[in-house]
Amino acid sequence: MSNKIFIFDTTLRDGEQVPGCQLNTVEKVKIARELEKLGVDVIEGGFPISSPGDFKSVIEISKAIKKPIICALTRARKADIDVAAESLKFAKRKRIHTGIGSSDIHIKHKFKSTRKKILEQAIWAVKYAKKFVDDIEFYAEDAGRADPNFLAKMVEEVIKVGATVVNIPDTTGYCLPQDFGAKIKYLFENVKNINQAVISVHCHNDLGLATANTMAGIINGARQVEVTVNGIGERAGNTSLEEIAMILKTHKKLDLKTDINTEKIYDISQKVSKMMNMPIQKNKAIVGANAFAHSSGIHQDGIIKQRENYEIIDPKDVGIDKSKIVLTARSGRAALKYRLRNLKYEIKQEHLNTIYKKFLNLADEKKEINDQDLRILMVQNNL
Ligand code: KIV
Ligand code: ZN
Repeated sequence: MSNKIFIFDTTLRDGEQVPGCQLNTVEKVKIARELEKLGVDVIEGGFPISSPGDFKSVIEISKAIKKPIICALTRARKADIDVAAESLKFAKRKRIHTGIGSSDIHIKHKFKSTRKKILEQAIWAVKYAKKFVDDIEFYAEDAGRADPNFLAKMVEEVIKVGATVVNIPDTTGYCLPQDFGAKIKYLFENVKNINQAVISVHCHNDLGLATANTMAGIINGARQVEVTVNGIGERAGNTSLEEIAMILKTHKKLDLKTDINTEKIYDISQKVSKMMNMPIQKNKAIVGANAFAHSSGIHQDGIIKQRENYEIIDPKDVGIDKSKIVLTARSGRAALKYRLRNLKYEIKQEHLNTIYKKFLNLADEKKEINDQDLRILMVQNNL
């Protein structure tokens, strides 16, 4: 099995479904260009039948992007597939992503149908999409809650009629990592033709398990992951691209690789956040404002001695210049000295003790002490 993990980015489709995150065509093309520079393999540009704007965006993304595959989402319906095929006409490399619900909950309550009819529709959709495009990805929606036997049957049948990629989504973010991993393993053990397609995982974060589930999928054989920048997406979001890219880079023993230029992660994260009007929580892994900030005395002392004491990722690897030593009332002398040295103040030990006491009083009043506060403190103390 190959050790390359394909990165399928759905920031512009699942990410853009978030209320308030909608982008116009120009903005979508801008982000698509950034995704291309980042090194993603597939860009899901939109759901073309959903609106004329989305249709136009897929057209313009297709014209602008050279290397990644451009993908368009459809339901298992003729009109959706026709429109998606039309929207992809300028794409150098194109894929239709079609699919239908696979869990009994969806079959009974969303489609008011039966397993047999749903299976027929799935097969029909892949065959029909195949008339336009070679590369067809099939999604078995709500696979996380689907009966594994039925799911295996569905996967086998869609591969038989030409699906090149099969997406196993945990649409509702329900699964536990060991269960999701076991489901992927079950498919590898029970679908005869599984090696004729790439298995993809698409996890939602309703229980905060999207990244863990995606990793469980990879460990059990999935070779494509569906992710978004900053983990934006429906409800609690999708798996974040930056988390998967950095997990795979950090854990070398997995011997898996992506083509992501990780040094571009911070930049695209900021751009997506601003353009999509979605602030990044401060403690967000990899890209949050505090991801490389150290504020307690013990940690600061350790970081100043050797970065690896408290950091498993070099901030430069994700495009951040350096770690931050934040001065608060929990900081120690080492951090104060370090920050003063950055401001070109070389300070003797006895002066450090004096200024440290004053610093603590000020820090108790103010939440964070900045460079200007430090300069004033030094002047006030004739240092
Ligand atoms: O979450 C999901 O199941 C989806 C599919 C449309 C792939 O977004
Ligand atoms: Zn989704």
